[in-house]
Amino acid sequence: MKKKVVFFEVREGTDKGPDGYRPDTMPMVNALNERDWEAEVIFYSDDKKDEILEKVLTEADAYVSRINPGNLKSEKVYFEMLHELVNNGVIGMAHPDAMSKYGAKDALVKLRDTDLVPSDTFSYYEIEEFKRNFPKQLANGERVLKQNRGSTGEGIWRVVLIDIDAIDQHGSVKLDAKVRCTEAKDNHVEERELGEFMEFCEQYIVGDNGMLVDMPFLHRIKEGEIRIFMINDKPMNVVHKKPADGDDAFSATLFSGAKYRYDKPEEWQELMDLFTGNLQSITEKLGGYDLPLIWTADFILDTDEQGNDCYVLGEMNCSCVGFTSHLSLAHHVADEVISIIKQADEVECHK
Ligand SMILES: Nc1ncnc2c1ncn2[C@@H]1O[C@H](COP(=O)(O)OP(=O)(O)O)[C@@H](O)[C@H]1O
Ligand SMILES: [Mg+2]
Repeated sequence: MKKKVVFFEVREGTDKGPDGYRPDTMPMVNALNERDWEAEVIFYSDDKKDEILEKVLTEADAYVSRINPGNLKSEKVYFEMLHELVNNGVIGMAHPDAMSKYGAKDALVKLRDTDLVPSDTFSYYEIEEFKRNFPKQLANGERVLKQNRGSTGEGIWRVVLIDIDAIDQHGSVKLDAKVRCTEAKDNHVEERELGEFMEFCEQYIVGDNGMLVDMPFLHRIKEGEIRIFMINDKPMNVVHKKPADGDDAFSATLFSGAKYRYDKPEEWQELMDLFTGNLQSITEKLGGYDLPLIWTADFILDTDEQGNDCYVLGEMNCSCVGFTSHLSLAHHVADEVISIIKQADEVECHK
């Protein structure tokens, strides 16, 4: 064991504090130092990749990735470096494949046979599949379409059928039916014809990592989105995000006017039990990687067939989840990092 951890950041981006780092990075570095561990922040750039790789392989037990993929020119080279690190014994927090798998919207579809996600949740990697299934699903009720990228509600559409009679003999909504589409980015509403709107959505399916997730619209989003903030396998706090008032408003992003409130996990005990009880199947279904170090899971309330409250998973994030509003969590992160490295070291010694 080298007793050293590196934190990867990039210089660019609007997520930096006055010291040039993400505001929650130095608190983690300091917390590790207080525990007699070395920690260093490395600014990643593609042209320094080999140098960084060499340094981290010789000096560190683990890395913590604090990079918003949106701030990288291309994720490819960075992810190649992370792969080389984990393949050569450096512990990835998170593993690059876990970062892609947990962060992608199609994680929902991989989890649809758990009790976290409705079974009528679909993913479309091909335009043909989208055209075949979406009009059928829309005939059953309001839907939400989610593009794979971003995290600001862009390309997340609530779709409502206006002409409720416009359903053909196969049970699919007709392509010339009028639909009301609301984008979560800013809750703006557009009335369009279904076929024309679906053509517009093809942009989300084509290209690298392109795809759409199609899930039922959950009316109880009005009561808010419930975000569990996780450190490894431990829920640390809950952020309750209530969308702006208004009939069409459904977005829980700050930009769209939602209000945030912070709760203790104990105030949402039933949800915590549901989620922690599912952690093992989540890991298995998303590729078998260790859980990310710092990550979130967002839930929306729903009502089950017996009329009881239940919770539906809406998305997970793990690439660069911040905790600037609760910097004392840095101590929990440091303890968790050290414990993960020590456990891995024991396993190594017993081989
Ligand atoms: N199935 C759903 N039913 C109702 N509202 C939803 C649903 N899925 C997402 N939303 C709303 O849309 C917002 C954006 O969707 P989300 O999946 O979180 O994408 P993003 O990555 O852009 O944050 C959520 O914060 C929530 O308010
Ligand atoms: Mg979201």
